[in-house]
Amino acid sequence: MKKKIIKIRLMKNQDFDAVVRIDQKVLKVSRPEYYEQKFERLFQSGEYLPTSLVAQDENETIVGFIMGELYIGEYGISREGAAVDTVGVDPDYQRQGIGEKLMTEFVDHLKQLGVKKINTLVDKSDKRMMLYFDSNKFTPSVAVINLERNI
Ligand SMILES: CC(C)(COP(=O)(O)OP(=O)(O)OC[C@H]1O[C@@H](n2cnc3c(N)ncnc32)[C@H](O)[C@@H]1OP(=O)(O)O)[C@@H](O)C(=O)NCCC(=O)NCCS
Repeated sequence: MKKKIIKIRLMKNQDFDAVVRIDQKVLKVSRPEYYEQKFERLFQSGEYLPTSLVAQDENETIVGFIMGELYIGEYGISREGAAVDTVGVDPDYQRQGIGEKLMTEFVDHLKQLGVKKINTLVDKSDKRMMLYFDSNKFTPSVAVINLERNI
């Protein structure tokens, strides 16, 4: 199979439809409201530095994305920590290294902004996501645990 040329660039507000389309293809449910809120927070609030990325093929079709939050904050910029919260690759393009490429560029970009640590939450039963984060050098936190209470 011919190797596709994939370019990674910063996400723009106009990428909304493509992101919702990929999310729907991955999860088999449509949740535009979730992304409406995320896009508004990231692109219109002025409280976050641009860190989210998209992957596009040679026809400029968006085939994957990674979204993170780097809060600027009320008391000036606090860039020590950032979060990656959503990552998705079009099922027709998975297992070709695009997810890894997105993560590598995301990490490089955050490093340049002074970030020292990136956090994420993963469902332990989601083997594919656990393997994806493991292969991208994420390890269980030693300092923080996720507490919960059934009510
Ligand atoms: C996880 C995900 C981002 C990986 O994207 P991808 O482009 O296929 O990943 P890569 O090809 O870069 O794979 C990197 C590594 O992750 C792991 N991995 C990825 N997919 C895997 C799978 N299906 N099974 C096992 N390991 C997997 C492997 O270690 C892989 O390295 P390898 O191919 O050398 O073995 C993609 O499968 C996805 O979008 N999953 C759905 C995520 C989701 O639910 N998002 C929320 C809504 S969008």
